[in-house]
Amino acid sequence: MRIDIITILPDMLTGFFEESIMARAQKKGLAEIHLHNLRDYTLDKWKRVDDYPYGGFAGMVMQCEPIDRCISALKAERDYDEVIFTSPDGEKFDQKMANDLSLKGNLIILCGHYKGIDQRVRDHLITKEVSIGDFVLTGGELAAAVMADAIVRLIPGAISDEQSALSDCFQDDLLAAPIYTRPREYKGWKVPDILLSGNEAKIKQWEMDQALSRTKALRPDLLKKKK
Ligand code: ADE
Repeated sequence: MRIDIITILPDMLTGFFEESIMARAQKKGLAEIHLHNLRDYTLDKWKRVDDYPYGGFAGMVMQCEPIDRCISALKAERDYDEVIFTSPDGEKFDQKMANDLSLKGNLIILCGHYKGIDQRVRDHLITKEVSIGDFVLTGGELAAAVMADAIVRLIPGAISDEQSALSDCFQDDLLAAPIYTRPREYKGWKVPDILLSGNEAKIKQWEMDQALSRTKALRPDLLKKKK
């Protein structure tokens, strides 16, 4: 899959996509992430991409032209399944949306900034508006990074053990069971005996019981959704 991210702050994201699983997925040819500096698409000699809003409102608004020119240049090269705009008033991003998007071929993510973007971009160019939570970030770059990370790691082969993406917390609307590694005992803190028993069926049952009780205690809303 290919994700094109349009941003006025590409340097903020470069390092993120050059590390760890994001870097490995790209090296393996599973995902291509391309960052585009919106300022490269403005015709303004000062490289401005925003202007004052009509109506005398406060704040600045991202203009249609550079966004349209950038998206049109990308679309001239290939088809896109979605043109996503990061916005606190968008549809809430969750594991299901990550799953759905990980099955797509090509995505554009436009990072929002300032007070917003000219409504005509939303009306004519954007196919999906996405929020990563009920809080306001200074810009959409972190939201784009969060989304790309959650999407790319779901591509088969992106993480070493495919099973581990399938057994993720949230993958089946349950929180994950607790997990332990060596040593068996540290400062008197012990690993539960059941995990050392070698009894696979009992361990599976324990894992399910733990997942259920943690979900009940910490995220009962997920259980209601499951019903
Ligand atoms: N831009 C600012 N806040 C955001 C949020 N919560 N989600 C997505 N994009 C945003």
